[in-house]
Amino acid sequence: MKIAVLPGDGIGPEIVAQAVKVLHALNINLELQEAPIGGAGYEAAGDPLPAATLKLAQESDAVLLGAVGDWKYDTLPRDQRPERGLLRIRKELNLFANLRPALLYPELASASTLKPEVVAGLDIMIVRELTGDIYFGQPRGITTLENGEREGINTMRYSESEIRRIAHVAFSIAMKRNKKICSVDKANVLETTELWRQVMIEVAKEYPEVELSHMYVDNAAMQLIRAPKQFDVMVTGNIFGDILSDEASMLTGSIGMLPSASLDQHNKGMYEPSHGSAPDIAGKDIANPLATILSAAMMLRYTFNDEVNAVRVEDAVKKALADGYRTADIWTEGTRKVKCSEMGDAVVAAL
Ligand code: IPM
Ligand code: MG
Repeated sequence: MKIAVLPGDGIGPEIVAQAVKVLHALNINLELQEAPIGGAGYEAAGDPLPAATLKLAQESDAVLLGAVGDWKYDTLPRDQRPERGLLRIRKELNLFANLRPALLYPELASASTLKPEVVAGLDIMIVRELTGDIYFGQPRGITTLENGEREGINTMRYSESEIRRIAHVAFSIAMKRNKKICSVDKANVLETTELWRQVMIEVAKEYPEVELSHMYVDNAAMQLIRAPKQFDVMVTGNIFGDILSDEASMLTGSIGMLPSASLDQHNKGMYEPSHGSAPDIAGKDIANPLATILSAAMMLRYTFNDEVNAVRVEDAVKKALADGYRTADIWTEGTRKVKCSEMGDAVVAAL
């Protein structure tokens, strides 16, 4: 099993180091190879996705990624900024299906800003389309109009086949869970998502056991904090999924807990925490590595079909939490505040 390890920027290297430590502790046959991406790619090769990094990712079975981005690159031309490296690798590897499970560990019920009874038992799978929508639609750019005023343009667009394939991923996942899907759109205003809704309804016919509902994104944003347990699988486009998954992460106590898998048609995947590079706390060894460790568990499950070891890692995370270990973001009175590397050690010890 060959894994490309791309630590990236900010807290990326610290959190990835913990996930790598956990993978090694499993004692399975893994070949790990590291390469720079994001700002680190720009520093190393003048490109946020250096050709050698892309090649390594293409030749590997899976990619483990930390995070990209740092304010110091905000003034670079858009094509050289770290985020572009991330968007390009998603597109190049055709990772159209982004799975972001928001799961509340009982021990963290009081770490959420919501009332414990609202979030207790929460288990949502957000399926976000990742290679289309306003993120990639053309035309785009900032141009100057005839009157000298500048105009910014982005284009929201989805083809039928793009919607259909993410629908199939979401319905297949729903079949293995509680057979309930909520498709999130803005079909009352945006034609792109009117088509989204039509295609969801068509695909649903192939899964008669699954109950499909629809919700406008503004309402979904509200319902997620009003009564999140009404959701099981949510399926939505790239931009809505970006926003709703950040929101959902707070239900679980901290965005530092939310892993993700980005899969292609054949379950080759890139695995990364849903959170960003947090440059403000980089290098301090205080970040939460659990989202990255849980992303490594998703890698074992989805790309390597190794449910046994995936569960071993997830159980070790539960054990570390049950033993009271907390990084600063999830710390509450009476628990034990640890550093990023100590949390990694606690998970390894639990294994
Ligand atoms: C995410 C991130 C990225 C996104 C950024 C860093 C480009 O927010 O993975 O959710 O918008 O997709
Ligand atoms: Mg995001």
